Amino acid sequence: MTAPPPLLAIEGLHAAYGLSRVLFGISLQVEAGECVCLLGRNGVGKTTTMRSVMGLLPPTGGHILWKGTDIAGWAPHRVARAGIGFVPEDRRVFAELTVWENLDVAARAARRDGKWTIDAVYELFPILRELRNRRGGFLSGGEQQMLTIARTLMGNPELLLLDEPSEGLAPLVVEALLHNISALKEQGVTILLAEQGVDFSLALADRVYVLEKGRIRHAGPAAELRNDQELRNRLLSL
Ligand SMILES: Nc1ncnc2c1ncn2[C@@H]1O[C@H](COP(=O)(O)OP(=O)(O)OP(=O)(O)O)[C@@H](O)[C@H]1O
Ligand SMILES: [Mg+2]
Repeated sequence: MTAPPPLLAIEGLHAAYGLSRVLFGISLQVEAGECVCLLGRNGVGKTTTMRSVMGLLPPTGGHILWKGTDIAGWAPHRVARAGIGFVPEDRRVFAELTVWENLDVAARAARRDGKWTIDAVYELFPILRELRNRRGGFLSGGEQQMLTIARTLMGNPELLLLDEPSEGLAPLVVEALLHNISALKEQGVTILLAEQGVDFSLALADRVYVLEKGRIRHAGPAAELRNDQELRNRLLSL
């Protein structure tokens, strides 16, 4: 019997904005149930990798295998329907709609069946239940981040691409978010996380890929980086 393919396998991915090349042959895998982190500083290509997977930026080379099928170049709605959800770094919520309305819109747009209902996301993010009648535009950054994740969950993704969820949030809020994302992982959602925050990534991730200027500089278990200060300094010193 052959082993099933990884949930997501990126092979030799190249991407560019016009003539400006950004990714130079990225390869990585995400197995079902894992939390994998793409770690790297500003501008190394974390968002570009996620946009390529989502079909928002068609790659200029390489393969993006979703359960063994090459989805490189698929339209974003088709990628979403196949089971990949994207939480972009800019925390897009409808400012004029309440929290509940934001979730309701996402639920109506969902094209996949699954367990995520408004009540289920309230269980995960109890603060959203408390704030259900507040307009999106009046939420704090952390609350908007939670609402953005919750909206994406309404589409019942098998894999969640989370782009810099901790960026710009106060330490206490980051702590709460860590707790929420861990709970999400325990519920069986596979996660690919892009982060600059080393502590945040290492607290959540099973495995880490360190990205540098559009290339993978290091790949390994998160525990290795957690336990080896010297390796961490060498790979991630800013
Ligand atoms: N729309 C765009 N047009 C042209 N160049 C872009 C565009 N978006 C990103 N880039 C460039 O591509 C490179 C990679 O950017 P990307 O946003 O993928 O990095 P990142 O790792 O997500 O960084 P950050 O941590 O700042 O979010 C950068 O040099 C950036 O300037
Ligand atoms: Mg980015």
